[in-house]
Amino acid sequence: MEISLAGKVALITGAGSGIGAATARLMAASGASVVVAGIPAAGVETVARDISSSGGKAVAIATDVSDSEQVKTAVDVAVERFGRLDILVASAGVQMHREDRDLHQLPESAWDRTHDINYRGVMLACKYSLARMVEQGSGGSIVIISSITALRGTSANVSYMSGKTGLLGLNRYIAIHYANRGIRCNAVLPGALERTPDHDDHPDPEGRSRTLGGKIPLGRLGRPEDIAPTVTFLCSDLASYATGGEFVVDGGVTVI
Ligand SMILES: NC(=O)c1ccc[n+]([C@@H]2O[C@H](COP(=O)([O-])OP(=O)(O)OC[C@H]3O[C@@H](n4cnc5c(N)ncnc54)[C@H](O)[C@@H]3O)[C@@H](O)[C@H]2O)c1
Repeated sequence: MEISLAGKVALITGAGSGIGAATARLMAASGASVVVAGIPAAGVETVARDISSSGGKAVAIATDVSDSEQVKTAVDVAVERFGRLDILVASAGVQMHREDRDLHQLPESAWDRTHDINYRGVMLACKYSLARMVEQGSGGSIVIISSITALRGTSANVSYMSGKTGLLGLNRYIAIHYANRGIRCNAVLPGALERTPDHDDHPDPEGRSRTLGGKIPLGRLGRPEDIAPTVTFLCSDLASYATGGEFVVDGGVTVI
């Protein structure tokens, strides 16, 4: 069974690297036209160029998801270039490994930046994509990239964890309130990948890999390519009965 997204147009945020980039490549290979959105510009341009040179359809747009005008423009680009919008994957995110910890002395700037991108940024992407999908009147599918940190209290990064938890509420809201328009919304909750968002800022990436990697039943940390197929399936017509779901893809770690 092959997943086909032929004829569909997808907007993917945070698509210059990681899960967003892997999803953009897989969706394009599955027949979708893809708007590769995110910052920095060089990342999204490279991904779109790679897709185009392999015969897929893609356009890059530098988009800071915390800026509503830029998000609105990314949706407009989808419509101008490809005529419509069927799919949103909200993957852009940051993790301020050093600053976002110890709530009693948390720099409030860390809370604000994390929530501006990871929480408000997802809301904005959903808002402007929904506006277009409602106007089109032919349904749509949204996938919000949350995290297994939303299911537990163990993450050191309080703003990150609380934002990822809030996204599960946003997912439920959209699923319920847009079901009658044929618009589905699901959350994907990845476990620990080999590289984190803002990985270069992690105080001890090798220690993290050793500690977390050893605890994963499937025996290794995840990769973006482990997450992209679930996201792509959820955006396809094969998943037409799935909405409001929370799909954990974590090598088994949350069920230990
Ligand atoms: N890596 C993990 O271990 C892990 C685990 C669970 C969940 N996630 C989530 O998966 C999503 C993707 O992360 P990833 O692992 O692919 O890491 P990543 O850092 O490769 O991807 C995040 C992307 O978002 C971009 N970005 C940052 N700020 C932005 C902004 N203001 N506007 C637009 N784009 C912006 C980054 O440049 C990057 O390309 C994130 O939401 C992350 O929280 C990651």
